[in-house]
Amino acid sequence: MTLSEARNIFPHLSQKVYGKELVYLDNAATSHRPRQVIDKWVSLSESCNSNIHRAVHHTADLATKEFEDARLYVQKYLNAQSPDEIIFTSGTTQSINLLAFSFGEAFIHAGDEIIIAESEHHSNIVPWQMLCERKAASIKVWRLDSEGKLDPSDLELLITPSTKLVCFAAISNVLGVLNPVKEIVNICHSKNCLVFTDGAQHIVHSEVDVQELGFDFYAFSGHKIYAAPGTGVLYGRRELLEKLPPYMGGGEMIDTVRWEKTTYAEVPHRFEAGTQNLTSVPTLIPALQTASMLRQFEDEQERIKKLVYDYLTATPGFHLYGTSADLKNKIPLFSFTVEGVHHEDLALVLDKMGVAVRSGQMCAEPLMDHFGVTGMLRASFAPYNTYGEAQYFIESLEKAIRMLR
Ligand SMILES: Cc1ncc(COP(=O)(O)O)c(C=O)c1O
Repeated sequence: MTLSEARNIFPHLSQKVYGKELVYLDNAATSHRPRQVIDKWVSLSESCNSNIHRAVHHTADLATKEFEDARLYVQKYLNAQSPDEIIFTSGTTQSINLLAFSFGEAFIHAGDEIIIAESEHHSNIVPWQMLCERKAASIKVWRLDSEGKLDPSDLELLITPSTKLVCFAAISNVLGVLNPVKEIVNICHSKNCLVFTDGAQHIVHSEVDVQELGFDFYAFSGHKIYAAPGTGVLYGRRELLEKLPPYMGGGEMIDTVRWEKTTYAEVPHRFEAGTQNLTSVPTLIPALQTASMLRQFEDEQERIKKLVYDYLTATPGFHLYGTSADLKNKIPLFSFTVEGVHHEDLALVLDKMGVAVRSGQMCAEPLMDHFGVTGMLRASFAPYNTYGEAQYFIESLEKAIRMLR
């Protein structure tokens, strides 16, 4: 399959905006969906709409199978030991809130510490702050070093016997640099503390083997990897999940309910209260299949990375955040500011040229504070973007800057 054939399976990519071909470079916010994902959602809605895990009738059975097949597929995709280690959520945000609540109930007490990387998305900050407030625990910030990177040796110095959990994103949604994930996990384990890895950006650009990487907990959102929105995953090692109480109460998360006492279902169902997103979760299968298929275009991604990276680092007036000596560790995600031009104005002019980018704080205010800026412009490429689009982006950027200066 050629890249242009692969692009044809994404209906949204052939859109025009203001009469111009859409060049969609906001993939870190959400990706587009392939025809197979849309078809799956439509066909389940049209002919397989029944609630799961309950009724004995035919379509209920089919719908349950679709849902549980998705769990098996995700288990294999992540190389988790068991499907019971895969909890379906509405996205990374819900995964982290679930973990913060349930882990917090089981493991966090007054005086304990949770370490959070300075480069985190608000989703990986606020739920932990809420937990620490509830439990009189505290947060320690793992600061970026002078080069704007997370240095594992700084983490080593930060962990104390009171540290119960370290939270970091494998790849920040602003910096786009792959952190030394395995080294970080090993440091945490050698110091007897657990670790949560936010994989929202990571899952799209890396193959993930949760056992090989030694993850305790890992989360991602379906909509960033071509699946329907409102889908997400929390992976947890089974022996840890079994120690966690439920997050929400309701139907299907119970074993028995009596006025005197309710007991809970086994993992993962204990964490999936109420009616699940039954037409969307099964779209994770064609979505992850698409992600695997798109890996054949890695060379194009490498060329895009080099083109945009070289341009942004070599051109006067640009400041790129998230640099890497080795481009292998950088995904094609570029957050930058331009001297004398406001990021929001630039994004608006680029939009008129058909280029969709993100501007603002990107849900990472503490990181903006670290760099002393109020916002940035971000261009994030997906494996379906082309080198030609990257060239058009640079030309449009130059034109927009000339107009605004
Ligand atoms: C690194 C990271 N973590 C968490 C999130 C939150 O994901 P969602 O809004 O899909 O729950 C995002 C979304 O941009 C992200 O990039």
